Formats: sequence, structure tokens, C-alpha cells
Amino acid sequence: MNFYVATLFPEQVTSYLNTSITGRAIAKGAISLECIQMRDYAPNTYGRVDDTIYGGGTGMMIRCEPVYGAYEKACELAGEKPYTVYMSPKGSVFDEKKAHELASHKNLLIICGHYEGIDARVTDMVCDEEISIGDYVLTGGETAAIVVLDAVARLVPGVLPNEEAYTSESHTGNLLEAPQYTMPAEWNGVTVPEILRNGNDALIGEYNRAAALCDTLKRRPDLFDKEVVSEEDWEKMLAFEKGL
Ligand SMILES: C[S@@+](CC[C@H](N)C(=O)[O-])C[C@H]1O[C@@H](n2cnc3c(N)ncnc32)[C@H](O)[C@@H]1O
Repeated sequence: MNFYVATLFPEQVTSYLNTSITGRAIAKGAISLECIQMRDYAPNTYGRVDDTIYGGGTGMMIRCEPVYGAYEKACELAGEKPYTVYMSPKGSVFDEKKAHELASHKNLLIICGHYEGIDARVTDMVCDEEISIGDYVLTGGETAAIVVLDAVARLVPGVLPNEEAYTSESHTGNLLEAPQYTMPAEWNGVTVPEILRNGNDALIGEYNRAAALCDTLKRRPDLFDKEVVSEEDWEKMLAFEKGL
């Protein structure tokens, strides 16, 4: 999958995504990342990309030309119109379902705003959708783009070691992942539950479902309400809570 990012601050994006798991995925060609500097498409020789806002208001706004120029460059590099997203606090809020949808595209362009944002004429013209990473305002779209690209990249085949790494996580279904533990079996007087150490996959599966149901009910009752919970589940949850 090919990622394109239209930005005024490419180093913010590359410094994160060229590191660790996403960095290794780029190095081995499972994904590609091309940052397009919008300043290269400024409508003047001195690289100025912003201007004052019609109708008043404080701050500056990114003009249409640099965004459209970067969009055309992404189309040229991709050999088609990439699926195009504008990171915006006004967009629909990003979640795992949206990450799966975006991961189905071969080419994805993410446009990052800055300052007071981008002239709406160009985002309306080129974007397939606007995505927010939450109900708060960032100084720029780069950190939001990194969040989206990281969540999408890990769903692309070849980025994680195997598919199970992303099909049994929190938010892949309605439930959060059950608490997990690693070595040593006892640490600071706290012991890893016996059942997780006995190697019986069927019992471990039952235990983890009960643990996940209890955890989700406590932390995210909104998600728990979406899960179909059987009589047997409730019994196992009660047993889990009693430490049986
Ligand atoms: C200061 S914000 C502009 C906010 C805009 N004036 C408004 O009130 O909706 C600058 C840029 O940061 C990005 N941004 C800020 N908050 C975001 C969020 N919650 N999700 C995604 N992008 C965000 C957008 O790209 C935006 O163009």
C-alpha cells in the first residue's frame, strides 16, 4: 500500500513513520511513504502558502494552490487519483473500522492542515472525506496523520508478523483485549493466573473471554452493550470475578 502525505512539515511525519515497525515495513517494501511538500507548489517565488481569512478572524489560512499542487503530484506518483483524506477536527472521528476501510485502498493521500486550516474550496474539491482523531484541536494535521497512518499500516499484510496480531486486539470486535502478562510468573508478590500458565488452549480461551467481558464492562460499558452475552458468559464472568 502506498501512503502519500501532503504537508508543510514532512520531517514530523517521516521521523515517526521511518522508525520501529512502520520503518521496517517501509524498508522491506510492505508499504511506501512519500511526503509531498506543499510549499513547493506555492503561488509565488518565496514559498508563502498562507494568507488572511476572508470575513475576518484571527490567524492565517493555507491557500488552495499549494494543496492542489500537492494533490496533483500525488495523482501523478500514484498513477491514479488516490483515496484522499483531509485531517480535520470537523471530520468524522477515526476508529478501527475506518482504519480497515482505509487499508482497502492501494493509494491513500492524507492532507495535513496547519495554522487556521485550509481554504475549504480545495478540500471540498479533492477530498473523499475528512477525518478527525478526536474532539480537540491540534496545531497541525501531521500528528493526526501519523495516528491514522500507523493504525492503517499495521493492517497491511506483511507489516505485522501474522494476521492474528491485529485480529485479536482491542477494538477488532466489541470487546477490549483481556489483560496479558509476561515473564516472570511472579513479580512483586503478584502471580500470573495459573490457568494462563497451564497450556490448555480451550481453558485459556474461555478464561480470556470472561476476562475480556469483565474488563470491557468496567472500562467501556458502551462497547460491552454491543456484545451478545450468553447465560454461560455471565456465569463465567461471575466465576472470574470471584477468582475461580
Ligand atoms: C488549528 S487546526 C485548525 C482548526 C480549524 N480552524 C477549526 O476550528 O476547525 C490546524 C490543522 O490541524 C489539524 N487538526 C487539528 N485538530 C485535529 C483533529 N482533532 N483531528 C485531525 N486533524 C486535526 C487540521 O489539519 C487543521 O487544519
